[in-house]
Amino acid sequence: MYDESNRMNEVELTRKTYDEIAGDYARRLKDPYLGGSEAYHKRAIDRFVSLLPSPEVRILDVGCGFGHDLGYFLAKGLNVYGVDLSRGMLSLARRDFPEAQLCHMDMRWLNFRPESFGGVWAAHCLYHVPKRDIDRVISGIRQVLLPQGTFFCSLKLGKGDGMYTDQQAVSYPGKPRFYALYTENEAREMLSGFDIVEWDVKPEIYYGSAWLYVRSKKSV
Ligand SMILES: C[S@@+](CC[C@H](N)C(=O)[O-])C[C@H]1O[C@@H](n2cnc3c(N)ncnc32)[C@H](O)[C@@H]1O
Repeated sequence: MYDESNRMNEVELTRKTYDEIAGDYARRLKDPYLGGSEAYHKRAIDRFVSLLPSPEVRILDVGCGFGHDLGYFLAKGLNVYGVDLSRGMLSLARRDFPEAQLCHMDMRWLNFRPESFGGVWAAHCLYHVPKRDIDRVISGIRQVLLPQGTFFCSLKLGKGDGMYTDQQAVSYPGKPRFYALYTENEAREMLSGFDIVEWDVKPEIYYGSAWLYVRSKKSV
C-alpha cells in the first residue's frame, strides 16, 4: 500500500503514474500483452464486436491507454473513438495510430451527445475510478450508448480499494495507481441498467485478484 498522506487525490496520482510510465508500459505490454493473455483478449474483443447492433456503429474505447485495443478495432475496419485521462498514454496512441479519433477526457465526465455510440469498450480501466464516482461513469456510458448498444467492461473481483504498486501486469515500485475491487453482487448492482449477455468470471488470481469480464446490452 502507498502512503496516502499525499496532497494529490487518487485519480490525479494514477494519471501522473500513467504519464510517467507510458512509454515503458506500452513497450512491455505489447509483447506479450498482459503477460500472455493476448489471444484471450482478442477473442474478447471479437465477441464484443459480434454483439454490436451493426458493424457501422461508432465504438467508444474508454481508458484507451496507448491504443492496443484501439489498434485492433481499427485493423478490423471499425469506427472507434478513444478517450483517456493520461496525455502520456494518448500521445503514444496518436503516434502509433495517427488516423485514430482520440480525445483527452476523464471518463467521469464523458462529453458526447446522447446515443452517439453503438458500443462502449472499457477494458482494464474502471478499477481506477473511486467508488464514489463509479455510478456517474456507468450512467455516462449508458447515456452515450444507442438503445441496444453493447457495453463491455472488465473488473477486478474482491473487496476494498486503495493505492497499489503491484496490481498490474507491469508493476512500478514507487509509482502507485488506485484500484477499486468489486464483489459480483456490487458489479450486478452497478450494471443494473444493462441486460447481461455474458458474465465471465476468471477465478484464478491474476495480478492480485480474480477478474470479471461482462458483455451486456443497454436495457430499454
Ligand atoms: C491499465 S490501462 C488500460 C488501457 C487499455 N484500456 C488497455 O486495456 O490496454 C488503464 C488506463 O485507464 C486510464 N484512466 C484511468 N483513470 C481514467 C479516467 N478517470 N478517465 C479516463 N481514463 C482513465 C489510464 O490513463 C490508463 O491509460
